[in-house]
Amino acid sequence: MRIIRCKDYADMSRKAANIISAQVIMKPHARLGLATGTTPIGAYQQLIEWYEKGDLDFSEVSTYNLDEYRGLSHDDPQSYHYFMCKNLFDHVNIDLARTHVPDGSDPDAQAACASYDALVKEAGYTDLQLLGIGNNGHIGFNEPDDAFSKGTHCVDLTESTIQANSRLFESIDDVPRQAYTMGVQTIMRARAILVIASGAAKAQAVYDMCFGPVTPRVPASILQLHTNCTVIADEAALGLCS
Ligand code: F6R
Repeated sequence: MRIIRCKDYADMSRKAANIISAQVIMKPHARLGLATGTTPIGAYQQLIEWYEKGDLDFSEVSTYNLDEYRGLSHDDPQSYHYFMCKNLFDHVNIDLARTHVPDGSDPDAQAACASYDALVKEAGYTDLQLLGIGNNGHIGFNEPDDAFSKGTHCVDLTESTIQANSRLFESIDDVPRQAYTMGVQTIMRARAILVIASGAAKAQAVYDMCFGPVTPRVPASILQLHTNCTVIADEAALGLCS
């Protein structure tokens, strides 16, 4: 695990965008695993800026998002699909047919997850997987558990995740209670992993991910076993890592 210390959120975002753009430059038909949430927004904005300057071309890139709320359709403003369009896809020359997000509108959880899993597998998994980290150490929506998850599956979100995500909804009652998420095993198949973290609220999770025991109680801790994992975090998120 490589840890890159950044001054602040802007610095973290620029460095993360640099790694993502290097991947796209080195392999124009790269398969990117993407995340939603607050943390990657700055990196996506930076990628858009470089695209607008003519420095980046997304025309051959394919993307595979980590997760989606169960019960939300693609065009629901709270859906992760909508988030990706608003924060990245609508602003670059990516072919929307090459962008993939689990289908939260499919009520058949097993079928929706199995078909997403097959899609990622048939693609050969991702070249670069971008991850945020939850305050409780979750990656994707793989919450603390007794065992590491494998493929895409339906999860019940924990109270702490519902609470953390409620800031993006009008009220906490509007936050969906379930999500479809790539499993830990699928995430670990990425050729390279890039974890980004910002702010003191992530400090414990970042410490546990990097230096704690590898345990499904802290899903991100398994990333210690990945052979090409980079953590880019700001001073506050690295506050417990001296
Ligand atoms: C989102 C995702 C989540 C977030 C995590 C951190 O696709 O998979 O694991 O990365 O909850 O969220 P933020 O960035 O909002 O703190």
